[in-house]
Amino acid sequence: MARRTTFDFVIAANRLPVDRVVGPDGEVEWHRSPGGLVTAMDSVMRGRDGAWVGWAGDTGDAPEPFDEAGMWLHPVPVSAEEVEQYYEGFSNDTLWPIYHDVIVPARFRRVWWQAYERVNRRFAEAIAEVAAKGAVVWVHDYQLQLVPAMVRELRPDVRIGWFDHIPFPPVELFAQLPWRQQLLTGLLGADYLGFQRQADAQNFVRACRQHLGASTKGETVTLPSDEGRPQRTVRASAVPISVDFEGLDALARTPEVQERAAEIRASLGSPKTLLLGVDRLDYTKGIRHRLKAYEELLADGRLSTPDVTFVQVATPSRERVEAYKQLRTEVETTVGRINGNHGAIGSPAVHYLHQSYPREEMAALFLAADVMLVTPLRDGMNLVAKEYVTCRHDNGGALVLSEFTGAWHELHQAFVCNPHDIEGLKQTILRAIGTEAKDKERLMRALRRRVADHDVRVWADRFLANLEAAPERPERRRDA
Ligand code: ADP
Ligand code: F6P
Repeated sequence: MARRTTFDFVIAANRLPVDRVVGPDGEVEWHRSPGGLVTAMDSVMRGRDGAWVGWAGDTGDAPEPFDEAGMWLHPVPVSAEEVEQYYEGFSNDTLWPIYHDVIVPARFRRVWWQAYERVNRRFAEAIAEVAAKGAVVWVHDYQLQLVPAMVRELRPDVRIGWFDHIPFPPVELFAQLPWRQQLLTGLLGADYLGFQRQADAQNFVRACRQHLGASTKGETVTLPSDEGRPQRTVRASAVPISVDFEGLDALARTPEVQERAAEIRASLGSPKTLLLGVDRLDYTKGIRHRLKAYEELLADGRLSTPDVTFVQVATPSRERVEAYKQLRTEVETTVGRINGNHGAIGSPAVHYLHQSYPREEMAALFLAADVMLVTPLRDGMNLVAKEYVTCRHDNGGALVLSEFTGAWHELHQAFVCNPHDIEGLKQTILRAIGTEAKDKERLMRALRRRVADHDVRVWADRFLANLEAAPERPERRRDA
């Protein structure tokens, strides 16, 4: 395509910000990709003259590179078999469970690992093709952990950073991975590694010490000189991700979004209390625990419809992976049972929506909800928690937040819960509903201040400053 072919700033993530969907008559549509990574990076990339290397979400030949709102999107092809083995298999049925406390058992298959290596290599080659000399290359997330070392091999001139959007597991869980050394070596190809929490960075450093015998000190891992390559030091530290506070706050203040929020409440029968959950339909998000607590509160008579209603938005996710299929069945069965037992004509106890919505609709939902339930069993950050707070320019609402999210480490004024403790979760929900409005306003004001001061731009700037300041490599000094 006729445009500059190399860039000084290149990011690589498993997904491009848009997915290519081919309709039954061969018509091509581009839909926004799901997940927090895209939400965050989309706002970071806008206005920067950079390239985004990623998968277009379908199989076979990749579309030609193209321009999208000032970003150069460079699709990487992934075959149907690789979607099964690299994406659904190794990324989401091996790494995802290990990195999320083994909530479901991880599956280890050598053929999945081979596909993971192959697709990572393809990403590295695509990056090497679009990166200008001396470019900054920012690789994202657990799907691409081999890419830093592969890029270094192909392009020793570029600066390489990697950010982990999900938790990094304790060394005892990481140790289960038959390919633990290769994964660590892959990551150590970077100049700087960013994590959501200090504990994640420390888990990584410990894993390097234990499984590679690397020498470590504080936030750094030092690799000895090898086959003529000089000694290298890599830094791993915490840089918690965030949301576009300014943009989302402005959106939530528009008359359209405010009217829509009022309309949503009215169409739900103007309940006294509207509870809301918004998640990808993922077993890490604690949706089952949340539903259980709500069901018991209804059964105990401590909550009752139509005074209270619960909207659960559950974005379709990884639908061919067995654990996700099972989760969907369980969630939908539970929702059916709750509605059967506690709903009435025109006032169901749970409104369950297995769909994706535009940003405006999400903002209206956040503005409409009295209590936001964010109850993951484990979550790297959870941007939904920060989005809810951002949309509450009225200082209204209350956030119930699991202590097992990265967000909890910043949002201390939330109503904290341990989702495994159903009794405790029930008490927390009742407390979030029952706390005086003026006290909730004070809490919300503090939460908003935190997110406003630590928005996605601050995150990106901090990551890039750390990358820039990372211990310099001797090769670069010699080339300069
Ligand atoms: P994850 O990255 O695990 O999906 P996050 O909470 O960090 O979790 O990010 C989820 C992102 O996806 C948020 O930006 C949220 O607003 C968005 N999102 C979640 N559900 C939907 C939905 N049904 N429609 C549109 N966007 C959604
Ligand atoms: O950070 C978690 C993550 O896996 C991201 O990589 C991705 O944006 C999001 O969740 C959605 O997952 P998927 O790309 O598998 O649909």
